[in-house]
Amino acid sequence: MIIENQEFLVNGLTYTIRSAVKSDAKKLSELRLQIDGQTENLDREPGEGFLDVPGFESVIHTDSVRPRNLFLVAVTGNRIVGFSRCEGTYLKRFSYKVEFGICVLKEFWGCGIGKNLMKQSIAWVDSNGIKKMTLNVLETNTRAIAMYKRLGFEIEGTLRKDKILSDGKYYSTIVMGRFND
Ligand SMILES: CC(C)(COP(=O)(O)OP(=O)(O)OC[C@H]1O[C@@H](n2cnc3c(N)ncnc32)[C@H](O)[C@@H]1OP(=O)(O)O)[C@@H](O)C(=O)NCCC(=O)NCCS
Repeated sequence: MIIENQEFLVNGLTYTIRSAVKSDAKKLSELRLQIDGQTENLDREPGEGFLDVPGFESVIHTDSVRPRNLFLVAVTGNRIVGFSRCEGTYLKRFSYKVEFGICVLKEFWGCGIGKNLMKQSIAWVDSNGIKKMTLNVLETNTRAIAMYKRLGFEIEGTLRKDKILSDGKYYSTIVMGRFND
């Protein structure tokens, strides 16, 4: 689906949160690769699972037309500096819920971009009859976990030894959900 643009001014940074459009695909492909290299909080090492421009165009198209998908970007100047997705499924037994994912370029952390991408997504979820938002987060990503809790998510469980990181140690994944009853 598509939502209306929203403007923000936080810590002196002006940015817009809006639905992704086809012409964002090249910037999104580059940004995803860049952010994958900045954090171990996401699933991929840089270059793994690379999504090229046609790949992103396809995702953007799908997310624009499907009723339970939402692809948002945060834009400052002509740069995309973060994005989030809600992804539903066509399977009827899961048709009430969406999975959420988010990332922001490191140099723009702390400007409310993550929180505002999430707030816009939650507002869309709440006004479209979606009953559950779900996400997975690395146990050490305490900042993200705190943000999710503040925005109404609760911890549903832990997937133990779910990942191995560059230090050779195993880490758990926390499964979180936000419910509309
Ligand atoms: C998690 C992430 C999306 C947060 O994005 P962000 O734009 O930095 O988030 P915000 O600026 O909205 O800040 C979120 C909260 O963290 C707090 N915060 C900001 N900077 C902080 C810092 N340096 N240290 C501790 N807390 C901080 C903010 O105060 C805010 O809390 P508030 O809601 O009370 O205001 C971003 O850090 C990121 O992309 N990380 C890498 C990928 C990732 O971890 N994705 C999530 C996978 S589940």
